[in-house]
Amino acid sequence: MTILITGSSSGIGAAAAVELTARGHTVLVTGRSADKLADVHGRMLAVAPRDVKVPDPIVADFSALDGVRSLAATVLASCPRLDALVNNAAVQPSRRRESADGFELGFAVNHLAPFLLTGLLLDRLHESGGRVITTSSSAHTKGRLNFDDLPMRLRWTSQRSYARSKLANILFTAELARRTKLAASSFHPGSVSTDLNRESPFVRMAKPLERFIYTTPQRGAQTLTWLTAEEEGGHPSALYYVDRAPAQPSTDARDPDLAARLWDVSTALVDRHAHR
Ligand SMILES: NC(=O)c1ccc[n+]([C@@H]2O[C@H](COP(=O)([O-])OP(=O)(O)OC[C@H]3O[C@@H](n4cnc5c(N)ncnc54)[C@H](OP(=O)(O)O)[C@@H]3O)[C@@H](O)[C@H]2O)c1
Repeated sequence: MTILITGSSSGIGAAAAVELTARGHTVLVTGRSADKLADVHGRMLAVAPRDVKVPDPIVADFSALDGVRSLAATVLASCPRLDALVNNAAVQPSRRRESADGFELGFAVNHLAPFLLTGLLLDRLHESGGRVITTSSSAHTKGRLNFDDLPMRLRWTSQRSYARSKLANILFTAELARRTKLAASSFHPGSVSTDLNRESPFVRMAKPLERFIYTTPQRGAQTLTWLTAEEEGGHPSALYYVDRAPAQPSTDARDPDLAARLWDVSTALVDRHAHR
C-alpha cells in the first residue's frame, strides 16, 4: 500500500510510519520539523524490507492552508496511487492563537487542514480504492460546536479548543463516508506519552512521570495501523474505534445534521480562502 500519514514527525504518527514500513508498505511522512522527520526517516530506512521504497519526508505546516495545498500538490505529483490517507496531525495550543489565515489555531490545524487535504486528494483516493483514517480522541465527548463563535473568542480554553477539534474529526469522518462512499473511520489512540501537550508547563513538569501513567506511541499506534492496513479499515463497520474495536462516540458526534452543517461551513471557509 501507499500511505500518507500527517503528523508523522513524532508520537503516534511516527510510530505508525515505522511499523507500517517494517510491514512492507510505502509510507509518506510529513510534519513541521525537518529534523524530527529526518530522524523518523532514518528509523524507517532501518526497518524497511529490501524491496520497499522509503520516500523522502515532506515538510508542511498546516497553520496556513497554503501549506496543506502544497503538500497535496507534492503528493499528487509523486504518488500515482494513494491507498490510505491518515489525518493524524494535531496541536493543543496553551493560549488562544490564530492561524496564518485568521482561524482559531486548533480548528485550523486539527480540522480545516485535514478537511482540505482530504478534499484535494479525494480523486486519487477514489481511483486507488483508498481509505481515510482520522485520529480523534476520547476528549471529543467534551467538545461543543458553536457556529456563532467558530473563532472561539468567548471562553477559549486549551481543552475546549482541543475537544471541539476532536469532535469535528468524527463529524468529518461521518460526513465524508456519507458524501463520498470512501471507507472512512476515526479512532481514539488511548492516553499516549507524546509531544502533544508540549506547550503546557504543567505537563512539561510531569514529563518524567508520564511513562508510568501513559502508554507508548507504539501501543498508541496499534488501532491506527490496524485501520490503515487491515481488512476492517477498508470496510469500516463503525465510525469510531478504540483498542481495535468499534466504540460509540458522543451524541453530538453521531448527529447527522451537525456533521452536514460542519461540512458546509468548512467548505465555505476553505473556498473563501482559495478565492481571497
Ligand atoms: N497523545 C495522546 O494521549 C492522544 C490521545 C488522544 C488523541 N491523540 C491524537 O493523536 C494524534 C497524534 O498526536 P500525538 O499524541 O502523537 O502528538 P505529537 O507527538 O505532538 O504529534 C503531533 C504531530 O502533529 C504535527 N503537527 C502539529 N502541528 C502541526 C502543524 N501546524 N502543521 C503540520 N503538522 C503539525 C506534529 O509535527 P511537528 O512535531 O513536526 O511539529 C507532530 O508530527 C493527534 O491527532 C492527537 O489529537 C493523542
